[in-house]
Amino acid sequence: MKKINMVDLKGQYDKIKEEIDQAILKVVESTAFINGPEVKNFQQDLEKYLGVKHVIPCANGTDALQVSMMALGLKPGDEVIAPSFTFVATAEVIALLGLTPVLVDVDPHTFNIDPKAIEKAITPKTKAIVPVHLFGQCSDMDLIMDIANKHHLFVIEDNCQAIGADFISSNGSRKKAGTIGHVGCTSFFPSKNLGCYGDGGAIFTNDDQLAEKIRIVVNHGMTVRYYHDLIGVNSRLDSIQAAILKIKLKHLDEYAAARNKAASYYDSAFANNPKLKTPVRFNKSTHVFHQYTLVTNGFDRNKLPEFLQEKGIPAMIYYPVPMHLQKAYLDPRYKDGDFPVTEKLSKSVVSLPMHTELDEEQLKHITSSVLEFVNR
Ligand SMILES: Cc1ncc(COP(=O)(O)O)c(C=O)c1O
Repeated sequence: MKKINMVDLKGQYDKIKEEIDQAILKVVESTAFINGPEVKNFQQDLEKYLGVKHVIPCANGTDALQVSMMALGLKPGDEVIAPSFTFVATAEVIALLGLTPVLVDVDPHTFNIDPKAIEKAITPKTKAIVPVHLFGQCSDMDLIMDIANKHHLFVIEDNCQAIGADFISSNGSRKKAGTIGHVGCTSFFPSKNLGCYGDGGAIFTNDDQLAEKIRIVVNHGMTVRYYHDLIGVNSRLDSIQAAILKIKLKHLDEYAAARNKAASYYDSAFANNPKLKTPVRFNKSTHVFHQYTLVTNGFDRNKLPEFLQEKGIPAMIYYPVPMHLQKAYLDPRYKDGDFPVTEKLSKSVVSLPMHTELDEEQLKHITSSVLEFVNR
């Protein structure tokens, strides 16, 4: 059996090696490492794929979030609503910009931000909502956009984990995750569904003026060379990464299908097991399975990864500590017990290997090992 990894980047690379190697070599030979034609080419391909007017590439997903908040003109003291069950980047950039993170609980089934909780958290200082499309499926963007429109709030979609997923609105329209709010952010971190071979990210928007401002902010706030009209940052996607992403984008839907196939295998193996809850598919979103995350009960969750490790199977806990209980983000406004769903999930979730290269032999070994532990 092939070695089992959480993410098999080597197996994926081997299948497209020739094309990738040539593309990298072409950039090296051109020496157009920064802002070369590959960046524009990839940007245009991604705009087409997403059906969005503007894609602005940047250095990583965290920058994408930060730049979006800067370009939207959010100011210290403004409140930004974000889920308590997420990766730290969301809260990190809010805090770095001197904004006030207002955390809210998530839905127990989809793990995504709970729209009812958003509404309750709104104050006169609220300026934006950051729904995180966690593990590969969309938050309820119908309800979130309704709330945002009603209260005149910006919506910044953190789409770092759900690129390629479709949101299916109650009116039947289909849009790509990250293109529904005022602005969407993604990460091209290597293990992401569309990952490059280093760091990378992008911002999406349909708003021409906002796009222009984002382009200025990512480029040192510069309008004309050496004339700085805004305080900006230096956040670029380099040409080698763009060349790689252009190739991988062509495979993104096929990658999502491979992830879904593995997820279905896991689902059937664990169906009806009272100690394992398989991921709930939200009926308004397709799922691109950035992670396959089980909710466990009736056994010590922390012992499962240890047991699997001995059988050559990695497993991860995303995320073991809710945002409001992270040391750096402790805040007198929040205490243990404030976000019961998040806190329960942090204690009970476990993510299994999920990538495009999982074969049946590996899936059989993973599922039978999980069941051996759970049923003993
Ligand atoms: C939900 C979420 N937001 C933001 C990020 C930050 O992306 P990056 O690592 O590219 O900065 C990530 C990825 O790590 C993420 O999963």
